[in-house]
Amino acid sequence: MKVMHTKHGAGGGSHRGWVSAETLKNPLPEEVPQGQEAAARVPILSTADVVAARKTCRLSAMEAGFSDAEVTSIVTAISEVARNIVEYAHSGEVLIKKTQRGTRRGLKIIAADNGPGIRDVRGIMEPGVFGNRGGCMGLSRAKWLMDTFDIVTKPGRGTTITMVKWLD
Ligand SMILES: Nc1ncnc2c1ncn2[C@@H]1O[C@H](COP(=O)(O)OP(=O)(O)O)[C@@H](O)[C@H]1O
Ligand SMILES: [Mg+2]
Repeated sequence: MKVMHTKHGAGGGSHRGWVSAETLKNPLPEEVPQGQEAAARVPILSTADVVAARKTCRLSAMEAGFSDAEVTSIVTAISEVARNIVEYAHSGEVLIKKTQRGTRRGLKIIAADNGPGIRDVRGIMEPGVFGNRGGCMGLSRAKWLMDTFDIVTKPGRGTTITMVKWLD
């Protein structure tokens, strides 16, 4: 099942979960358990870096044991979020790391930037947007390709997208 959680500014209640400029520079450090350190960190500044992120991600996904089709899905998903960093935030980074929940193993991708943020996440991710118009397909597609998809964004502060693909 695909899951997405979004956090919105207006009426969101607690500010827990908001990403400050500080945490975005070093995304989710407290979330990385011992032995599960970042496998790879790719700074994203240009389309050449998107290519580098794709290559690194492909190797990590293959090494983790994903099928060729799954590897393609994961690489497509990282491509979308990395391209968005170049296009809208101009700089940021992606992290690719193994993750585990109980006996379940997977690959986690975190894309983080300190860019302008996304004002209307709900509108962008709404069901029906996928496929409706060429301009707004990237994130919907990434969500569809992965098993979990979370966006934390704040206008003027930045965006962090966390996605996981489970092996089984
Ligand atoms: N990292 C980001 N920072 C700021 N805005 C973003 C970011 N990623 C996506 N967006 C916004 O979300 C919209 C939807 O992104 P996406 O689904 O990739 O479609 P597209 O890039 O084709 O417009 C973008 O048009 C942009 O306004
Ligand atoms: Mg895009």
